[in-house]
Amino acid sequence: MLDLRSDTVTRPDAKMTMATMDAATGDDVMGEDPSVIALEKTAAEMLGKEAALFLPSGTMGNLCGVMSLASSSSGPTEVLVGDESHMFHYELGGLSTVAGLAMSAVPTSNDGTLALEALGKAVREEDVHHARTAVVCLENTHNRMGGRALGSAYMRDVGAFCRERGLLLHVDGARLFNAAAALGESAAALSADADTVSICLSKGLGAPVGSVLAGSLGTVALARRYRKMLGGGMRQAGVIAAPGLLALRENSTHEALRRDHRIASSLAAHLRTVDGVSVAHAVETNIVYADVSDAAGGADGLIAKLRHGGVLASAYGTHRVRFVTHRQVPDDAVDRVMKALEPLA
Ligand SMILES: Cc1ncc(COP(=O)(O)O)c(C=O)c1O
Repeated sequence: MLDLRSDTVTRPDAKMTMATMDAATGDDVMGEDPSVIALEKTAAEMLGKEAALFLPSGTMGNLCGVMSLASSSSGPTEVLVGDESHMFHYELGGLSTVAGLAMSAVPTSNDGTLALEALGKAVREEDVHHARTAVVCLENTHNRMGGRALGSAYMRDVGAFCRERGLLLHVDGARLFNAAAALGESAAALSADADTVSICLSKGLGAPVGSVLAGSLGTVALARRYRKMLGGGMRQAGVIAAPGLLALRENSTHEALRRDHRIASSLAAHLRTVDGVSVAHAVETNIVYADVSDAAGGADGLIAKLRHGGVLASAYGTHRVRFVTHRQVPDDAVDRVMKALEPLA
């Protein structure tokens, strides 16, 4: 099967498995796991931050990051998230349900940005009726907007916006290295204006598990306590940190990720030729959303046809199908998708 459901489906390759087997370990809750320490140090350097924290998932990275930033606000506190963001849609409302923070959803532009004007309108004035706005969250690349990459010029504008208003900025950078590769910028440049940034090792970088949150020494120390509180204190975590470090060092290069992007872009071009199928966004990275008409079978019909032809993709609602390329997608992937869709093309 050709699995294009997500970039989370990659399996550890032989090198990663060896890294796990050879990993030096210790009790990470006691700060004694050398592989975790090495991963956190490297991630902090690559993201241009003072410190970093290894976590089991991107969801926990986002939660710990925002909880740590929001702790600088006293009393009822609100966080601004994009109305199409992963944090708003797919993280079980953790900011509210777990952290007790109000979430306000700001309209998302087609390119995955939150317009400064929209952010400006959402920031609440100091008033006895209002929870205090304290944190802004961005997503780079933006999953539901088709993997769009947010550049450093925009990040600088949002950073200045936040500083002027005394707000803090968190970036959900689950696919930050894809953004960096697409834009020809460094992950550090894209994170420079963020107070915290979370990245996933288990998506485009191909590690079996894990995410990293980076920020200032003080913020990361606080996030470490929240991670423990949420049950994310992992003991001999070197066995997963070691392949994570390998993934971060070797698979985050522009060259490696641009290959995935080229396949996605070619897939989008081919899908545009299929009757009843249109591509929903400009394809800049490794995500392609296709809208499928009723005549072409809708999302379920297309997915069934693909599956029959040996290809997996995922449905987003009744008419939208998502394809995600990753390092284990073979070079002939587009041919295989088109062959599966031949009766439609
Ligand atoms: C943009 C984005 N942020 C965060 C996450 C959460 O990552 P995890 O599944 O590791 O919790 C995902 C997962 O797909 C994602 O796409």
